[in-house]
Amino acid sequence: MLLYKNNKYLPLLDIFVIIELLRICGIFGFIAKRKLSFSILTDLVFSLITFFSKKTFTVSTSGSSGMKQELQKKTYSSNKQNKQSKVEKIFSSVSHKYDLMNDIMSFGLHRTWKHELIKKIKIEEQDIILDLATGSGDLLELIKEKSNCICVAYDSNIKMMMQAKKKLKKQKIFYVNGMAENIPFKPNTFDFITLSFGLRNFTNIQKSLAEIKRVLKKRGKFYCLEFSEINNKSFRKIFDIYSKLIPIYGKLILNNEEAYSYLIQSIKEFPNQIQLTKKLLKAGFRTIEVFDVLDGIASIHVSEI
Ligand SMILES: C[S@@+](CC[C@H](N)C(=O)[O-])C[C@H]1O[C@@H](n2cnc3c(N)ncnc32)[C@H](O)[C@@H]1O
Repeated sequence: MLLYKNNKYLPLLDIFVIIELLRICGIFGFIAKRKLSFSILTDLVFSLITFFSKKTFTVSTSGSSGMKQELQKKTYSSNKQNKQSKVEKIFSSVSHKYDLMNDIMSFGLHRTWKHELIKKIKIEEQDIILDLATGSGDLLELIKEKSNCICVAYDSNIKMMMQAKKKLKKQKIFYVNGMAENIPFKPNTFDFITLSFGLRNFTNIQKSLAEIKRVLKKRGKFYCLEFSEINNKSFRKIFDIYSKLIPIYGKLILNNEEAYSYLIQSIKEFPNQIQLTKKLLKAGFRTIEVFDVLDGIASIHVSEI
């Protein structure tokens, strides 16, 4: 199967496919036992890719990033009124297998990316952190490993937050249910706000960013990990092909093709690195750093007021 050309590190994607097949076998009985070894294996693959591609993590500042300027414009076409109820329905229906699906779809890489985000935060014990769209609480788990700071988990979906509660039952965390577009906290409350793979699901991204800025302390920072635009054309094509498999996984594992068709659609419609930077600037953030993850498959925006 020759899907790649002109790119020395793309052959490693075959290893991904092998891991994926192994993982699919894991679903039929062994997945729990193998979780750790899979995560080590996927970390190894990720390290190999990082080694072969010097471009895996690029650092840039607002507007003039190292990313290609002529990235195609994307339109944000979702019908906003229907969107919220659709998003709620989808996350309610996938919540019990959310973590498993994430591991399968990303070959465990989402864990490495979340780890990258948390590594960038210099957390002190007295800090107050808001994890927006907390979902099943992956970021909070990493934050708590690092520091016993004060953490607030915030999400619009109670079933998703119940997964976080289960996972983090030994940790002291405050759980608040609500919308990112209307955060029920006073201005200047949080030292850090974290958000992974949530922003593209929000009904009103611009309003949510303004809310994030409002509740952040003046010297606070907002860390956002989200899918983005892949820089390399061949890699982009491979991802396009791969993304066609995702709804099939949804059908096989959860009997829910719709949820994962939505996931792919929302990735396609989401602003790219530069467009998101512009939205952050519009919301009032002044210093924005962008870190591409795996050549832009995702990116981490670190924003300061
Ligand atoms: C893809 S999950 C991400 C969960 C977690 N942060 C992670 O990285 O695994 C997206 C989460 O965003 C939440 N969400 C969607 N729209 C929201 C909104 N408008 N306000 C707050 N949370 C929202 C969903 O309920 C879901 O838990």
